[in-house]
Amino acid sequence: MAKQPDLMDKIVSLCKRRGFIFQSSEIYGGLNSCYDYGPLGVELKRNVKEAWWRAMVVEREDVVGLDSAIIQHPKVWESSGHLKGFTDPLVDCKRCKGRYRADKLADYVCPDPEFKKRAVTECQKQGLFTEVRQFNLMFKTFMGPVEDSSTMVYLRPETAQGIFTNFQNTASAARQKPPFGIAQIGKSFRNEITPGNFVFRTREFEQMEMEYFLPPGDDDKWYEYWVKERLAWYTHYGVRADKLRLRVHSADELAHYSTGCTDVEYEYPFGWGELEGIAKRGDFDLTQHSKGCGKEQSFFDEEKKVHYIPHVVEPAAGCDRTAITFLIDAYDEQELGEDPETRQKDIRVVLHFHPLIAPVTVAVFPLVKKEGMPDKARAIVRTLREAGIRCAFDEKGAIGRRYRRMDEVGTPWCLTVDGDTLKDDTVTVRDRDSMQQVRVAVGEIETVLRQRIKEWKR
Ligand code: GAP
Repeated sequence: MAKQPDLMDKIVSLCKRRGFIFQSSEIYGGLNSCYDYGPLGVELKRNVKEAWWRAMVVEREDVVGLDSAIIQHPKVWESSGHLKGFTDPLVDCKRCKGRYRADKLADYVCPDPEFKKRAVTECQKQGLFTEVRQFNLMFKTFMGPVEDSSTMVYLRPETAQGIFTNFQNTASAARQKPPFGIAQIGKSFRNEITPGNFVFRTREFEQMEMEYFLPPGDDDKWYEYWVKERLAWYTHYGVRADKLRLRVHSADELAHYSTGCTDVEYEYPFGWGELEGIAKRGDFDLTQHSKGCGKEQSFFDEEKKVHYIPHVVEPAAGCDRTAITFLIDAYDEQELGEDPETRQKDIRVVLHFHPLIAPVTVAVFPLVKKEGMPDKARAIVRTLREAGIRCAFDEKGAIGRRYRRMDEVGTPWCLTVDGDTLKDDTVTVRDRDSMQQVRVAVGEIETVLRQRIKEWKR
């Protein structure tokens, strides 16, 4: 498929205009690759995390949760191999001072206008590049008032290590035995050489990771299981199956801890990209920490009376990447003939979010600002909010415009209070995707919405 850069521009502009995502520190000119989530973005991201947590923890008996610290003992990163191995190869161009990942040169275009957008591999052929240097991606800071090597600490580059270092605490406190998992959602930091494509690759991001501990030998069974589960999670939440694919890593791409990895990839407007990785980590991490701390991080099987170091299969997803993927995949422009007022093509922009992912579930409108309609609409909003349903209230502008505003942010249903409501206590429920409208008794609204949420299909 051809790349669609203008689609990405539209998404970035919608995100800003409607309050999903803003450039961070924008009033100071912005800080490269850092983003802030606005009122709708923060709800979208919360919904992504809730949907993941529901599937990975709440609905399962074999997975428990954890929330570990971002700053950990520096030895954690020595044992995990991140101090030595979590590096990207870096080259600088001596002419234009551009800085590139040496293993991804084909992805870059020379920034010098004189070179007319040619690939930087040509600069490489001309010997313009420095020797390859290994660049560690971990952010460093200092703990306490003294800034020297003894107080240096790192911001975690993955949430996973906090799970490994808490393996024994968690297994015994939660009385779990392999196979069982520990799930965690939280911020991670990587000093990426070339962040980009909006929130797809940033230096500060949130991960949703689960380490599934299992008896050695069961690795392949659980690897296949989690690859299937995780792919199904995305389609369950409405991502189009033909935009997703599984890609098995070749041996030379595997991370230092991994013996096998499958990525769930999505076809973004800028090409196919990794959405989530499901990796076989074997006993690498627990063995490394056993050596590092001097205490074996094993599990005692009461039935067989043996100690063993469990193996691990890890589904690791990015929360920001999932949120933007849901948004990109939900984006649609529909031509609905001609606007009678402007005589221009009437294009409806709509986000087909799953109702549990949409930032707002239902919007309530009084048809006009009189005859008690706003009061009635507000009373409905109050009742729905008390029932835990995310609502918006809008009384400004023509009703058609209000529908469009809600379509553009992906609100699945709009309720309109009109003259009939005051007579028979019913409202119009308008569906975002089909645009069909039906009358529903006010007392039935919550039941109808809950049923529709359950039955929703893209
Ligand atoms: N614990 C394994 C691990 O961290 P990873 O493939 O490096 O594996 C997992 O990261 C997921 O985290 C990725 O699939 C991606 O969704 C997200 N992620 C990684 N680096 C990211 C970045 N710089 N910006 C945004 N998301 C990122």
